[in-house]
Amino acid sequence: MAAFQPSLECDNISNIHSEQTDSDLIQKTDERYRETLPNLPKGKGWITEHLVQYQGFWLTPNAALKILMWVQDHFKPRPTDIFLASFPKSGTTWLKALIFATVNRTRYGFADHPLLTTGPHDCFPFLDAHLQEKDRSRFDLDRFPSPRLLSIHIPYILLPNSMTDHQSCRFVYICRDPKDVLVSKWLFLNKLRPKDLPPISLEEAFELFCQGISHYGPFWDHVLGYWEGSLETPEKILFLKYEDLKKEPLVVVKRLGDFLGYPFSLEEESKGVVEEIVKLCSFENLSTLEVNKVSEQKFSKDTIIDNRHFFRKGKVGDWKTYLTTEMVERLDEITYEKLLGSGLVFGS
Ligand code: A3P
Repeated sequence: MAAFQPSLECDNISNIHSEQTDSDLIQKTDERYRETLPNLPKGKGWITEHLVQYQGFWLTPNAALKILMWVQDHFKPRPTDIFLASFPKSGTTWLKALIFATVNRTRYGFADHPLLTTGPHDCFPFLDAHLQEKDRSRFDLDRFPSPRLLSIHIPYILLPNSMTDHQSCRFVYICRDPKDVLVSKWLFLNKLRPKDLPPISLEEAFELFCQGISHYGPFWDHVLGYWEGSLETPEKILFLKYEDLKKEPLVVVKRLGDFLGYPFSLEEESKGVVEEIVKLCSFENLSTLEVNKVSEQKFSKDTIIDNRHFFRKGKVGDWKTYLTTEMVERLDEITYEKLLGSGLVFGS
């Protein structure tokens, strides 16, 4: 959904389209889904009634689980595909804008750039939204020009071999301090929570998050999957942190260009192209654009989110405003234990 797909609903997995898929195979995935779902452990949902645990991760039963199975069984990546992967609320929107602007920088001028009138989620869509869209002329993956820019929240270890083998597509992964992720997620999901349900308290959200019960959680397993993948195949996965991007955006955008095969030339650097991209995609710029203040983002026929919800504060450390000392200690302890020995750390 947006960043994650909270309430994406489709009655039947056959609603998912691709010209390359065969109806018998789709039928089999549909059966797999129907047979699997009743046997899965359930946990409390943040905006849906519950989440289900599948292959170690917590997913929305009517959306994320179906999408995952479709991707596992049918999605055909192209070697040129560029995936932006993230745990929800880690900076997906920002990275979408940065990658789009970097890859397309020779096509568009900065004065009339598409990002000035089109939201980052429309410029760089979620794979999920494509798969659920019934209007095939609008979202036909097979007709997308290369490189296709697609975004996912699916954990790395659940992706099919066709996506993770060495010859196939590339991934940029963005992660963020879990304390900021939790706060951002809690505030975001309360805005999307159905009106007839009472808001979820921070205490409850905190407990669920710590137990790993959140969309595509546990957070730590999600991050570690891409982290380990990036250590094994650094040419395939670029692992980024929101905090580094905040601190040194120019350095990170140049790395992004190199990794994606669109390195900035010396001439571009001297002309200030990297600075222009960073400025265009900055929180201050994007959050004040009309398209990101008033428009809605349609993720599927059932999931429409106001673009403005994707831009809250855009700061590092806003958790200090919300979390108690006890919460911080507990979350830091879990993070320390889970990441121990991995070489990955958050914060200073
Ligand atoms: P906060 O809620 O802490 O402000 P995602 O895009 O994965 O849903 O993540 C949303 C978070 O990224 C929100 O964090 C949002 O404000 C922040 N964000 C969105 N656009 C940004 C930008 N251009 N620069 C920095 N942060 C941004």
